[in-house]
Amino acid sequence: MTSEWWRTAAIYQIYPRSFADANGDGMGDLAGITSRLGDLQDLGIDAIWLSPFYTSPQRDAGYDVADYCDVDPRFGTLADFDAMLAEAHARGIRVIIDLVPNHSSDEHEWFQAALAAPAGSRERGRYLFRDGGGPGGDEPPNNWESVFGGPAWTRVIESDGTLGQWYLHLFDSSQPDFDWTNEEVREEFRRILRFWLDRGVDGFRVDVAHGMVKAEGLPDYTPPAEGGSMGGAGGVSVGETVGATVGATVGATVGGTVFATVGADATGVALEPEISTEPGALAPYWGQEGVHEIYRDWRALLDEYPGERILAAEAWVDPLPRVAKWVRPDEMHQAFNFAYLETPWNAAALRQVIDDSLEAFAAVGAPSTWVLSNHDVVRHATRLSVTEANPQGHGLGPRSKGLPEYAPGLRRARAATALMLSLPGSSYLYQGEELGLPEVIHLPDDARQDPTWFRTDGERYGRDGCRVPIPWEADAPTYGFGPDGDPWLPQPEQWGELARDRQRGVPASTLSLYRDALRLRRQHDLGAGSLEWLPGFPSDAVALRNGDVVVVANTGAEPVELPDGEVMLASGPLEGRSLPHDTTAWLRA
Ligand code: GLC
Repeated sequence: MTSEWWRTAAIYQIYPRSFADANGDGMGDLAGITSRLGDLQDLGIDAIWLSPFYTSPQRDAGYDVADYCDVDPRFGTLADFDAMLAEAHARGIRVIIDLVPNHSSDEHEWFQAALAAPAGSRERGRYLFRDGGGPGGDEPPNNWESVFGGPAWTRVIESDGTLGQWYLHLFDSSQPDFDWTNEEVREEFRRILRFWLDRGVDGFRVDVAHGMVKAEGLPDYTPPAEGGSMGGAGGVSVGETVGATVGATVGATVGGTVFATVGADATGVALEPEISTEPGALAPYWGQEGVHEIYRDWRALLDEYPGERILAAEAWVDPLPRVAKWVRPDEMHQAFNFAYLETPWNAAALRQVIDDSLEAFAAVGAPSTWVLSNHDVVRHATRLSVTEANPQGHGLGPRSKGLPEYAPGLRRARAATALMLSLPGSSYLYQGEELGLPEVIHLPDDARQDPTWFRTDGERYGRDGCRVPIPWEADAPTYGFGPDGDPWLPQPEQWGELARDRQRGVPASTLSLYRDALRLRRQHDLGAGSLEWLPGFPSDAVALRNGDVVVVANTGAEPVELPDGEVMLASGPLEGRSLPHDTTAWLRA
């Protein structure tokens, strides 16, 4: 007997650095999470997903893992993890953790061993070391760029002081990519999966699940100029770094080895793509067929365990039928729906992406997922109302244009959330969105920590604006995030009025809206429902029926007349039976 809980679950993402800080060091921790689980139970979610808390130098906020089977002291200990897990389970909350298999930290013992070992050694064979091109091997092995900006290759200085091989890093130079054609890497990750499954986790969100396998021969590739997402056909955008001698690691000492970026000037690289750059074409590092056999292997391993442990893919590929390949019956359970996240607040576009999602995932027997915010994107209380193009990962800051006012941005976000939570499937929420937190735009330059900011010389702001520690108590130091001290990113004054204690029990608050929507979603079993579009509404309205609930979302400027039926939920004030702009209502059918 299986509940298939994951098909309908509301899953809340915790970004441990910024959730709750029990020890007052300015960074959130596992004990902090444990202490606040009651609030999440009260919110009404089914599961939490934790971003990485493993041993890490934190060059990419923990997505640079030095030891996959231990907890970083900043976040606590394995005993703290066990206590957190037990408390969550006691409250009926499942726990999914983040697995980062595409790359490790450069401080991982394997990478340190690789640096110390010669070219061609077993140690180097766990990563993607290659000889450089051009005279003296001075040019990177190919023209790939890092998602965070700058070249995807860094050259090492060998132990005898000579310039040596290059290693691939699709992200920061402190995040060397594993070679997934190497059986030793595969075996190591089976061990890591078992380590956490044995401890009792309910599943894994798999980081960069579209990137682990690279096309044979690592051919040159130039992505289409549009883009800037974490992958997909858009890939990284060319032109961002042209002319810049990039490489945050120039002269830096990493783990005792000095890295050079000789030849890493993007202008010096011959750009002769051997792979199609047509829209929809895959980059040779994203979405390669070979990844799927890894997930089949993992699925079989997970299925040995009782209790429906799950895999959720972070696979930034498009279009949706391609994403659905990650959730075929013998692969993962869920894949993030970034197509939905990237859809503007526009009725026609929303209807289309909802149809496309339900169709693509149903075709492989998987549930659709829905998501509007996470730790990599501009918070949707801001994003849905930004009027200038803003590719994912570029972030927002004081120089950005087309920024919305807070109140209209929040109004739209609330409407968008109310629509999302009415849809059949599983929904992901990101900590703080239930408080209506906006993106933090005015972070001081010297506070920013995202490697994107450094690797593009401040041209892209990066993702810090959605990662600011969240507020719990309006009148406490650090708004109740921790006992005292400076949080790792400064909190804006606005956090006072948005603190959870100000919103608890206040019917019109965003917190109440989320709580009510999650409760009704469960009561009416909307996650397991099916969707029917309702005719007869203006084109700016998204109008649907899911079971015994009718949902109308107004994305246009003009009010929309509501059909008959008792209003069960409204994302903002109604004017009689009239649904104002940027508002969503749920009615009893
Ligand atoms: C994923 C994570 C992101 C991280 C990147 C590299 O996209 O969500 O935060 O920077 O992978 O690990």
